[in-house]
Amino acid sequence: MKAIEIRNKYLNFFKSKGHSVIPSAPVIPENDPSVLFTTAGMQPLVPYLLGQKHPAGTRLTDFQKCVRTNDIDEVGDNRHLTYFEMLGNWSLGDYFKEESIAMSFEFLTKELGIPAEKLSVTCFAGDEDCAKDEISFEAWKKAGIPEERIYFFGKDDNWWIAGEEGPCGPDTEMFYDTGKPKCSDKCDPSCSCGKYVEIWNNVFMEFYKDKNGYSKLKQKNVDTGLGLERMTMLMQGKETPFEIELFAPVMKELERLQKVDNIQSRRIITEHLRSGMMIINDGGRPSNSDEGYILRRLLRRMTRHLNKLGIDLGKLSEIIDVSIDSLKELYPELDVNRDEIKKVIIEEKDKFMKTLQNGEREFEKVASRAKKLGKTVIDTEAVFNLYETYGFPPEMTEELAMEEGLKVDMSDYKRLFKEHQEKSRQGMDQKFKGGLASTGEMETKYHTATHLLNAALKVVLGDHVHQKGSNITAERMRFDFSHGAKMTDEEKQKVEELVNNYIKMNILVEKLEMSKDEAIKMGAEAMFLEKYGDIVTVYKIGDVSIELCGGPHVNKTGDLGHFKIKKEEASSAGVRRIKAVLE
Ligand code: SER
Repeated sequence: MKAIEIRNKYLNFFKSKGHSVIPSAPVIPENDPSVLFTTAGMQPLVPYLLGQKHPAGTRLTDFQKCVRTNDIDEVGDNRHLTYFEMLGNWSLGDYFKEESIAMSFEFLTKELGIPAEKLSVTCFAGDEDCAKDEISFEAWKKAGIPEERIYFFGKDDNWWIAGEEGPCGPDTEMFYDTGKPKCSDKCDPSCSCGKYVEIWNNVFMEFYKDKNGYSKLKQKNVDTGLGLERMTMLMQGKETPFEIELFAPVMKELERLQKVDNIQSRRIITEHLRSGMMIINDGGRPSNSDEGYILRRLLRRMTRHLNKLGIDLGKLSEIIDVSIDSLKELYPELDVNRDEIKKVIIEEKDKFMKTLQNGEREFEKVASRAKKLGKTVIDTEAVFNLYETYGFPPEMTEELAMEEGLKVDMSDYKRLFKEHQEKSRQGMDQKFKGGLASTGEMETKYHTATHLLNAALKVVLGDHVHQKGSNITAERMRFDFSHGAKMTDEEKQKVEELVNNYIKMNILVEKLEMSKDEAIKMGAEAMFLEKYGDIVTVYKIGDVSIELCGGPHVNKTGDLGHFKIKKEEASSAGVRRIKAVLE
C-alpha cells in the first residue's frame, strides 16, 4: 500500500464516521513566535481544544505537515526524520475513549488489514494527578486485544503534552509487533530494541497544565496522531522509511551518481532535501535566525554530504526533480512550486559552495592544531569564526569534528554567540528607537485596518478565514490569511467596500481586558491563544470585530481614510496574501 492510499483511506474512514476533513496548516506557523514549526496535528487546533467553536464541527480529521528539529543530528540512522506527515482525528468535546479506541481498532484491522495479533497497546497506569485508565483497558479488551497485550505505564510513556504548558492528558498507544524476537524477558512496547513499533497515539485531553499544576478543561477531547511514513514502511514490510516510494527513488539516484558509498550520507541528503522543500514550499527561506536558520542547516548539511559522496553538484537540479516526482502525489504544491523551490535550494548551495572549500581547509587547520596540542575539544573562537566567515553552522563543525575524533563545546559556543548577539543588539536598539520616533501614526492605522480586513474577509469568503500573519510599515499593510483559492475581482471589490463601510460608520475601537476564558466565550479571534497569559487584551470594534491583540489602535475607525487592496496573491499552500494601503 502506498502512502497516498493510506492517507486517503484514513481521511475517508473518519469522514464516514462523521468527521470533517480540514486542510493541513503550514509547517511554519506564521503568527506564532513561540514555536518555529508545526510539530503535531493538535498544534493549530489548540484554541478549539480549549473550547472555542470550530467552524467545521466537533469531529475533525486531517493530515498535518510536521517538522520536529530536536533530532536533526540523528538523521542518517534507520528511522529518524525531521519532516513527517501526521494523520489525525479529533473529538472536540464529542466522543471519548470507547468510541475513539473502537474506531482506531477498526481502521487498523479492517481498513489496513493488520491482523489483531500484531497489535499491542499501552494505557495510563494512574498517579496522583489522574486515575488509572480502566476505561481504555476495557475498550481494548472489547475490541479484541487480549489482556496480556495491554500494558500500563506512567506519565513518561502514556501522557502527552506539547512542551510545558497546555492541553494534555493520558494517552493510549498502539504498537505493531514486527515479529522480531524479544530482546530480553523484560522486552515490552516501552523497549526501543525495534520489536515493537509505535504506530498511533490517542490522547484523551481533558486536562490543562500550567505552572500551578493540572486543571480540568471545559470539555473532554480526543487528539490522535499516526505517522504516515512509519505506517507506510510497516505496510510495505520495509525496515526503514528510506525504502518506501517517497524516498527510494532519490536514494537510488544518489547511489547511481555517487563516487563514494555511504548510506548515512544518502539518507541525510534524501531526508534533508524533502524537509527543506516542505519548509520552502510553506514560505521559509534560508537565513540566520529562527526557521530560516534550521532550513539553512538542513540545506548546508545536505550539500556537505553530496560533496562527501563525490556527487557533481551540477546534478542537484535533477536530484530535486526525482524527489519532487516521488512526492507530488502527496503534495501537488511541490510540483506547482518546482522552479521556485529549485531556485532557493540551488542559490543556498551556491552561496555555501563559495565558502565550503575554504571553510573545510580552515577546519582542517583548526583540527590539526588541536590535535598537535593534545586537545580533544576545538577552540570555541574557531567554531565561531567558521560560522561567521565560512557559514558553517556550529552543528556542522561539530559533525566534522566528530569525524576527526574531536568535540565542540556547544554550551561555550552559545555563551560566545550570546555575547556577540548582545553587542549587535545594543546597536540595533539605537536604530530601532530612532525608527519608532519618526513614525507611529500610520502603523497604528494599518494595525486597526488589519482587524477590519480580517472581519470583512470572513463575511465575504467564510468563517474559515483566519489571520496567518501580517506585516506593517508606514506605507502599506500586508495581511496573510487562510483561504484555498485566488480571490475573484468581485470578492476583492466586496471586501474593499465592506472595509470602507466600516470606516465610514466611524465605530468606536474599545480596548478591553478580560480572562482568556471570557475572551473565548465572546468568540474573540485569536490564532495562538496558548501563548497569551491568563488576562488578555481584546480590541472590540462594535459588532464588526473582536480580536485578541496588544494594540496600539486608533480610537475610531473613521480615522483610517480610504482602504484600497493593491494586490492579492498566494503566500503559501492554503494561505493568501493581501497587500493594501490607506489613502
Ligand atoms: N499530539 C499527539 C502526538 O503528537 C497525538 O496526535 O503524538
